[in-house]
Amino acid sequence: MPSPGELPDTFFLRTFGCQMNEHDSERICGLLGQLGLARVERADDAGMLVYNTCSIREKADTRLLGHLGEARRLKRLDPRRLVVVAGCLAQSRQTEFFAEFPFVDVLVGPQSLHELPLLLNERIESGRQAGAFEESTSRWSAELPRARRDGPLAWVQIMTGCSNYCSYCIVPYVRGPEASRPLRDIRREVAELAEQGVKELTLLGQNVNAYGNERASGAGGDFPALLEELAGIDGVERIRFMTSHPKDVSSRLIQALAELEPVCEHVHLPVQSGSDRILRAMNRGYERDDYLRLVGRLREAVPGLALTTDLIVAFPGETEAEFADTLSLMDEVGFDAAFTFVYSPRSQTAAAALPGRAAPQVAEERMGRLVERIQTHAARRNQELVGTRVEVMVEGRSRQSGEVAMGRTRTFKTVNFPGEPHPGDLVEVVIDEATSTSLRGRRAALVTER
Ligand code: SAH
Ligand code: SF4
Ligand code: F3S
Repeated sequence: MPSPGELPDTFFLRTFGCQMNEHDSERICGLLGQLGLARVERADDAGMLVYNTCSIREKADTRLLGHLGEARRLKRLDPRRLVVVAGCLAQSRQTEFFAEFPFVDVLVGPQSLHELPLLLNERIESGRQAGAFEESTSRWSAELPRARRDGPLAWVQIMTGCSNYCSYCIVPYVRGPEASRPLRDIRREVAELAEQGVKELTLLGQNVNAYGNERASGAGGDFPALLEELAGIDGVERIRFMTSHPKDVSSRLIQALAELEPVCEHVHLPVQSGSDRILRAMNRGYERDDYLRLVGRLREAVPGLALTTDLIVAFPGETEAEFADTLSLMDEVGFDAAFTFVYSPRSQTAAAALPGRAAPQVAEERMGRLVERIQTHAARRNQELVGTRVEVMVEGRSRQSGEVAMGRTRTFKTVNFPGEPHPGDLVEVVIDEATSTSLRGRRAALVTER
């Protein structure tokens, strides 16, 4: 371990990518806090610059390069500054990254976060760049000290990695094979969080409904069993989970969604495409009809269920007719919201070698049509809530000006309503207005106080 005095007093941290990375950043802050460093808001004021990176699409890479320009400039101003690059891009580029960016001091992959103090020590003692890139989980980052923002919400990691190898996706290469965290450890963490006043949990994993499925898993239960266990913990009002893979939604999971009170009526269920040929080429493991049937079963079992999804446009070889299949799937399902991405080739992945890359104008044009279609359905779904009462967990102040509180429904919709925000309060709100992205209303009653 580096001794005090050798390390800077302050660090700046910027996080890219998904919630998994945001959650890892809580652990990075926890580790650095334990080493005596305080977090500062501006890179210029920090003795250490930490970038927790994402590699999911090319854009993520180029954005990072801009920030590394900032790091190079600040390091020139004070060569004692330390620059740390963590996360998925650190893992995917490893040592070539060191050669390309000589001002980077430490590189640490997502499965090696626990090594960060040792790497800093190595860097200080040897004066050489230090890196760690474990390929599978030997220690759960979830077990490291955590610096969590106060408030009623918390993330809980239940899995790492992914073994699905969707043909476009880099995650299995940078996060390693799927592994499930032991149920008793998750239970303990959740009980502690609940004691600290956390009311809403989001269980995190690339494919949470495969929890406990991997061969020789030491999890001690499957996903429905985990939900049941956590739903019984005192103080846990709401449980969410992300991400679900359509091929692994079991009847018992549908039953758990329907029956366990704290489990919220929202499933994020990435479909990626509405075309069977594209779904096969993506190696998703289901067909359009399987997905539609699953949506039917979910909606039948869980009244008021919100469904959100991820979509990729212009996968290699996607024809206009295949894209039209994605549009028609939007009409058949009517999602509450969707994230849309233009296909981005990632080295190492199978799809990177496929012919038939769309011209950027074609991809953009399809994206425009898709987003419009999604917004139409999202607005309609939200409009249906006007005049109804919804339960809202208050999270904080709205980004709108004035005394406006912001919270979310159990179905993950953002609600703004006039009043002083008390994070953690559960309130009933009558909805007056809706757009495709949020709801606005008035407070009707307090359900429980924080
Ligand atoms: N594990 C989750 C999602 C992980 S990545 C799942 O399987 O659903 C989040 C989203 O990024 C994916 O759902 C996909 O829509 C998108 N994505 C992943 N790789 C991509 C790529 N190479 N190009 C464009 N979008 C991609
Ligand atoms: Fe990537 Fe597919 Fe795994 Fe999701 S399930 S992380 S898209 S490989
Ligand atoms: Fe990005 Fe890694 Fe998440 S590649 S999307 S930060 S798992």
